[in-house]
Amino acid sequence: SLASAPDTALVMLDIRPGLEAAAAAPAAIRREDYRAPDWLVPEVALSFELDPARTIVKARLSVTRNGEHDRPLRLDGEELELLGVRVDGAAVEPRFEDGRLVVDLAGPAAVVETEVAILPDKNSQLMGLYASGGILCTQCEAEGFRRITFFPDRPDVLSRYTVRLSADQHAFPILLANGNPVDSGIGPGGSHWALWEDPFPKPCYLFAIVAGDLACNQDSFRTASGRTVDLGIWVREADLPKTQLAMQALKDAFAWDERVYGREYDLDRFNIVAVSDFNFGAMENKGLNIFNTRYVLADPETATDADIDAVAAVVAHEYFHNWSGNRVTCRDWFQLSLKEGLTVFRDQGFSEDMGSEAVQRIDQVRTLRAAQFPEDAGPLAHPIRPDSYMEIANFYTATVYNKGAEVIRMMRTILGPERYRKGTDLYFERHDGQAVTCEDFVRAMEDASGVDLGQFRRWYSQAGTPKVHARLEQKDGKAALHLRQDVPPTPGQEAKKPMVIPLRVALIGADSGRELGPERTVLLTSAEQVEPFAEVGEPAFLSINRGFSAPVVIEAERRPGEIEALAASDPDSFARYEAGQELMARDLLAAIRGADLRTDAVVAAVGATLRSNQLDPAFKADAIALPAESQLIEKLNRADPGRVHDVREAMRRAIGQGLSDDLSRAHMAAGGADPASLSGEAKGQRRLRGATLALLGAGDPKVGEALASRQYAGARTMTERQSALMTLAMLGGDKAEEALGDFYARFEDDALVIDKWFAVQASVPGEATLEKVEALMRHPAFTMTNPNRLRALAGNFASTPSAFHRADGAGYDWLAETIVAADKLNPQTAARFVAPLGRWRRIEEGRAAKMRAALERILREPGLSKDVFELASKSLG
Ligand code: ARG
Ligand code: ZN
Repeated sequence: SLASAPDTALVMLDIRPGLEAAAAAPAAIRREDYRAPDWLVPEVALSFELDPARTIVKARLSVTRNGEHDRPLRLDGEELELLGVRVDGAAVEPRFEDGRLVVDLAGPAAVVETEVAILPDKNSQLMGLYASGGILCTQCEAEGFRRITFFPDRPDVLSRYTVRLSADQHAFPILLANGNPVDSGIGPGGSHWALWEDPFPKPCYLFAIVAGDLACNQDSFRTASGRTVDLGIWVREADLPKTQLAMQALKDAFAWDERVYGREYDLDRFNIVAVSDFNFGAMENKGLNIFNTRYVLADPETATDADIDAVAAVVAHEYFHNWSGNRVTCRDWFQLSLKEGLTVFRDQGFSEDMGSEAVQRIDQVRTLRAAQFPEDAGPLAHPIRPDSYMEIANFYTATVYNKGAEVIRMMRTILGPERYRKGTDLYFERHDGQAVTCEDFVRAMEDASGVDLGQFRRWYSQAGTPKVHARLEQKDGKAALHLRQDVPPTPGQEAKKPMVIPLRVALIGADSGRELGPERTVLLTSAEQVEPFAEVGEPAFLSINRGFSAPVVIEAERRPGEIEALAASDPDSFARYEAGQELMARDLLAAIRGADLRTDAVVAAVGATLRSNQLDPAFKADAIALPAESQLIEKLNRADPGRVHDVREAMRRAIGQGLSDDLSRAHMAAGGADPASLSGEAKGQRRLRGATLALLGAGDPKVGEALASRQYAGARTMTERQSALMTLAMLGGDKAEEALGDFYARFEDDALVIDKWFAVQASVPGEATLEKVEALMRHPAFTMTNPNRLRALAGNFASTPSAFHRADGAGYDWLAETIVAADKLNPQTAARFVAPLGRWRRIEEGRAAKMRAALERILREPGLSKDVFELASKSLG
């Protein structure tokens, strides 16, 4: 029988007048509607007859009634061809309600068996079981397991899995699943089989299997308690040499989690598999992580230092999930930040310990400002623990992940490191094997520390980036810090209550340049607050939110010369970086708003940074970079992106021209970095080399072109090569074409590097980029089915403001068409491109109207996915 379950319940609603009522608004799911599952599934046995064209999945669920009720068992299923259902061995006639398979059961327990067929080759959504470059693999988080078999697809149903895989031996010599291999053998007709068992009960979103012709980088790790864990990184044979960095990161992550969180690994093996078609970064399936190749494969010739750092961070992130996510999981998807915020915070701690803490923190804050602040200030703003969603895939956001990590960081700042660690110990011990909530995490922190986090919980429920206004008042040798907080309204949350905002503060002597007294952490808890500072003998400058102790926007009243002084000498390097950014933003924003562009203060500050003997090169590279155009746009009311670009370019030119000697010297010196070294020093040198080259090019295109061509030709690392290529591409002309041609020919067979080739060209500022992007879309190497390739082109284009925000609106139209086309193949990935169109409130009226029109165009498309519908309709709001 064929009973394809229709998509989940679609409720017909008239969404908005003026739009052709083509779209049906999917119902919102609400956090407050949570109910415990009616049936539990302690045991699952699955059997796969794997075939890319048509795979047969047999499932045997041992189910038990959960509590006193007489409701039937309801199983989620999507795009499954149902072949049969049995209850306690007897065939039953399938019945569907609201897209779910309903099974009536009489007693307290039963064995329910289903048999379905699925079509991996036709699975372009990359959710469930799909084929990628000849490999069969799965992705189940959040709701992909229902595309494999009928199941209560929710994270609070935990089961022990036994999985039998059978497949053609020649095409799929390697068969992997979660847990431990227990048996294997040869089957009929050239097939073979393997049996795997995972002893740890897990939610179905952590289920995974892989089948393919894979080679393994094998290693091992000895745990603190003396067990040996076999580590395997599985890739295509040709990619084996590029797995060494990921393997080192994996071993470092195992050791770090033992040392810093007291967490040991729990199975005898840990496998990572790399696949080239993947909707996001990677996935923490129990004992069988599946990764986007981009976060596994790396060597200095084909990956930049930033790529290499990202590999280590993602390898660590997924490994850390084994405790924060797998051993203790989420009760429901509203609690996503429980595991993601915590795990991002953990991977940030790892990166800080492996590299330079200050530079890591600057990068983290950059990411937060580029991705999360705009989200929090726009139509898609939501708390780190959302209250409702239409499609959960849309809530894997910078807010849930990165702001979520900032919230954990603030708890550690408030509690101090020891009590924080007591809190995590208690959390893991108390909730091991459970599916829990953000509230459970906060309560563990409170119980372990004795600190009341009542008001602090507002970080979980209120969206929006708080603004903190600060004014330092000085009188009679005393100082008082006047603070005011203001949490802006966000969709569905008009009025906000005051947050708990931990601010690391120091006063710096205006004359001595020294810290006046020890740094302190001020807890801002009311709307307005005054903090007294005693006995300040000299005029003081205010160094506030040091280390970015709270994810807020600081608006400080500054004295003349104050920012300049802090940018030159704040002893806290993060605060020093911030002061430099504040200085740059001050002069850029003034000019964008119509004043004459003042460049002297910025040029002086950048010059001092370049000439400093004390600052390390990575810090210098960060400190000489101007705030991004997108960040300036966020600070303006109805910005003209063309003007923002022009003013910022004028500042870059002034730096390039005013400091050509300092820049050339730094550029030359940085060229001495050992290409084989991945030390912080060598990476910092290369970063500084790229940053100085870009400014030299801005100052004098001829000089920039000559230097970049030379740097490109002599490049021994991708870091050097890519920065040279980007500078050439920005300058345009023959040299750029020549280098792009060389780059393509040199790396034609390396998909991850060809992604860079697309990305560089899509990131060139200016209105001409769209034509280039349109041409690239017709390039034989372009394909919409590979998310990395699509992101390289569309993602980079949409995040290059002067290219995307063409005055004629053609950039918006192109993006809308691309979203509509991609949606037909892969809704999750398509939906990722909607947000840039939703930033229309920040843009001048002419363009804003065109952005809205592009969103409306998307919403008129028949058969739009829930994913794109939710984001496009909310973006208009
Ligand atoms: N849990 C994975 C990670 O952060 C990501 C899963 C993303 N899922 C999604 N539907 N976007 O490590
Ligand atoms: Zn994660």
